Amino acid sequence: MTTITSIPSLYPSAAAIPGEFDIPAPVSQEDYLVDGRSERWGGEMQTVVSPIQVDAGAGPAPRVIGSCPMLDEAAALAAVEAAGRAWDHGRGRWPTMRVDDRIRCVEEFARRMSEKRDAVVRLLMWEIGKSLPDSRAEFDRTVEYIRDTVDALKDLDRASSRFVIEKGIYAQIRRAPLGPVLCMGPFNYPLNETFTTLIPALIMGNPVIVKTPRLGKLLYGPLLEAFREAFPPGVVSVLYGDRRIVSPIMRSGKIGVLAFIGSSKAADALRLMHPHPHRLRCILGLDAKNAAIVMESADMDLTVQELLAGTLSFNGQRCTAIKIVFVHESRAEELLERLSAGIDTLPLGMPWDEGVRITPLPEPGKPAHLTELIEDAKGLGAGVRNGRGGETALSLFRPALLYPVAEPMRVYREEQFGPIIPVAPFTDMETPIEAIMNSGYGQQMSIFGSDPEKVAELVDPMVNQVCRVNLNSQCQRGPDTFPFTGRKDSAEGTLSVSDALRCFSIRTLVAAKGTPGNKTLIADILRQRRSSFLSTDFLL
Ligand code: G3H
Repeated sequence: MTTITSIPSLYPSAAAIPGEFDIPAPVSQEDYLVDGRSERWGGEMQTVVSPIQVDAGAGPAPRVIGSCPMLDEAAALAAVEAAGRAWDHGRGRWPTMRVDDRIRCVEEFARRMSEKRDAVVRLLMWEIGKSLPDSRAEFDRTVEYIRDTVDALKDLDRASSRFVIEKGIYAQIRRAPLGPVLCMGPFNYPLNETFTTLIPALIMGNPVIVKTPRLGKLLYGPLLEAFREAFPPGVVSVLYGDRRIVSPIMRSGKIGVLAFIGSSKAADALRLMHPHPHRLRCILGLDAKNAAIVMESADMDLTVQELLAGTLSFNGQRCTAIKIVFVHESRAEELLERLSAGIDTLPLGMPWDEGVRITPLPEPGKPAHLTELIEDAKGLGAGVRNGRGGETALSLFRPALLYPVAEPMRVYREEQFGPIIPVAPFTDMETPIEAIMNSGYGQQMSIFGSDPEKVAELVDPMVNQVCRVNLNSQCQRGPDTFPFTGRKDSAEGTLSVSDALRCFSIRTLVAAKGTPGNKTLIADILRQRRSSFLSTDFLL
């Protein structure tokens, strides 16, 4: 690895850390949440080390920012039991609660959560190295997602509050919950992506066990009280640990839905642990290697701007990041020059530094892994096209622009999930098309071009390869009301505000032949409000 001699000075001394963002003493998070109680853990703890190194005089050194429980099988199974009691075969208080009462709990949670913004944002910066504006955006987007979910549920509930009469049969069709959910989010959006499954799962009436992400665990500490106060016992459990807790939860066979954002390999292993895989619904957000195709007709100003954001936002650690760029050979040199100049303008630094764009990488060993990918590509004929690309200093990694990238370089097909921009030239459009067709992934892609005929010719084959084709725009998940999904190894199920409500529920109906007796029966139930399912009340 080439070490950047100038970068260590970017790591702060303890005195240079702005007080409002500092974590001067380690946070000891000994509590976890189970059955509506904060339990104090007396066993093994896991140490949380920040990717932000602090210079105490002898050069930058890792800072321990806290510790949290490394729970064991018994703790995991206690959460399964608590979720099972809250579910109680669908007869529990939560799954049978009226929708407006569940909404009130979720709104109460959102209110309490909002009060913890500063604490959560600070931990996002220290645990995963996310910049201050991006950490704030993650928090705010999550609160907005909760509000949008409530609105979407009201719409859904209004649409289900009427009877359907078909061939003489009267029916009320609603969506019913599925049962206990295991919810596992990723380290790059430890709050937002976890909540985009947790909140819809909850609000539809399912009890949820949250296994905090591999990185980004401490930030759940400030939220435990809000969970405990807003929801009935057993409805939400928050656990800290590793596979030692996940395996018993899955093997118990008592989980109805697995909501998992992470690697396809891990998702496959989890699914197979369930003793009755056919009873398990999976909502999965997995790997991706989104491609951009830069055509001869591309507007280069716009293309470079979108590519820099698309490849390097949060250091390229987004499942939606553009992870390979195909460029028409006639525009390659121009693109490389401009991307290289663009990368030079992206400041490296600490998450709270004004205007910072490249921040420390939170995964231990990631700089070494990225360096390996670069060396592999170099050995097969590619070069780093930006001056000091690929230089490292501890957890900081200067983005590398690699060209020309081709098979069999690893970076041509592997998801780098970091600040490397592989660029592959083409003369025949079949080259990128085939690469996308033969890729194991199928989340999104971007087309940069202004020739309507050529763009349209490419859109048609691409929409059957990926689930979102972006025109002259980077790949992204948002707005959160848009469907977010993928083909092949990239996803299972669709997550948008409204689709997620469907993912965590099943269409269920009460139906009756329209005999006079049945009409009288139904009318009485409705008038006397005897059932929460069979009801024509609607939410305003
Ligand atoms: O890591 C995957 C995220 O869902 C990406 O969301 O495109 O809004 O950054 P984003």
